[in-house]
Amino acid sequence: MIEIDGQTRLLGIVGWPIEHTLSPAMHNAAFAALGMNWAYLALPVPPRQLGTALLGMVALGFRGGNVTVPHKQAVMPYLNDITKSAQAIGAVNTIVVKENGRMVGHNTDWMGFLAALREKSFEPRGRRALVLGAGGAARAVAYALARSGRQVVILNRTLLRAQALVEHLAPSVPASSLSSRPLSHDALAEEAARADLLVNTTPVGMWPHEEASLWPDTVPFPHHLVTCDLIYRPRETKLLRQARRAGAEIINGMGMLVRQGALAFRLWTGHPPPLEVMRAACEQALGKNRTSRISR
Ligand code: ATR
Repeated sequence: MIEIDGQTRLLGIVGWPIEHTLSPAMHNAAFAALGMNWAYLALPVPPRQLGTALLGMVALGFRGGNVTVPHKQAVMPYLNDITKSAQAIGAVNTIVVKENGRMVGHNTDWMGFLAALREKSFEPRGRRALVLGAGGAARAVAYALARSGRQVVILNRTLLRAQALVEHLAPSVPASSLSSRPLSHDALAEEAARADLLVNTTPVGMWPHEEASLWPDTVPFPHHLVTCDLIYRPRETKLLRQARRAGAEIINGMGMLVRQGALAFRLWTGHPPPLEVMRAACEQALGKNRTSRISR
């Protein structure tokens, strides 16, 4: 454990609700392993208090932190600077407070996603990817894949939202790399046959609705389709089970969680992150925290 004293540098994750986040366990384990006098707190901040909370963090000398649901977009107007990629995605998940008190917003989700694919030896460059969902997580994933030179098809229940995502990202990715379709069994089967990567960014299949999957039971799962689910509770969603049983490679959301955290860790501290310590801390916290909802 870190001994907190007058020199301890503070970080925190701002969200609402926030009590079940795995990030404090992940970062405090990293600080303890490296003997660094830093501490990372979970900070429950209701939406109406977001601006006040951020100013308060700066006033209290926080070095930065993370931002999670529902604040990833709402936080942007309060920041002094926002990196190009966070601006392109339209969401901030990491804040660095500089020496002069200026707050800089970053997005480490997209690079964390690519790093998670690579750690499973999947090269993000390549053919066609299918992204299920068009919310905040889908934006980071679609941006990452399109920037890697892929064709990305967004399938979403609400077509308008998928179209808005494509329109938002279009200026920052290669021309015509993104397209959208309404989510249906037919569209899914048809697009899956032409893709080599499927990414679920929706909450379908997340605890406690573990028996749900967007892949229909009546359609055989294509074994060539590397399948990634951003959910990590349960560790294997029904979608991943369907994929695994068909012989496809599967990747759950734990890698992206750890990798986005590792990138943030380096931004705050300048130190190489102890990846395996961070991963083990997340796994352990997940085991303790069996009945809770997910938030980063
Ligand atoms: P996040 O920020 O985590 O991405 P979000 O912004 O709430 O979360 O987005 C959730 C995504 O999951 C949306 O694309 C949503 O579809 P709609 O745009 O139609 O609402 C999708 N989603 C949620 N529940 C779903 C369900 N039961 N079936 C299909 N899609 C679902």
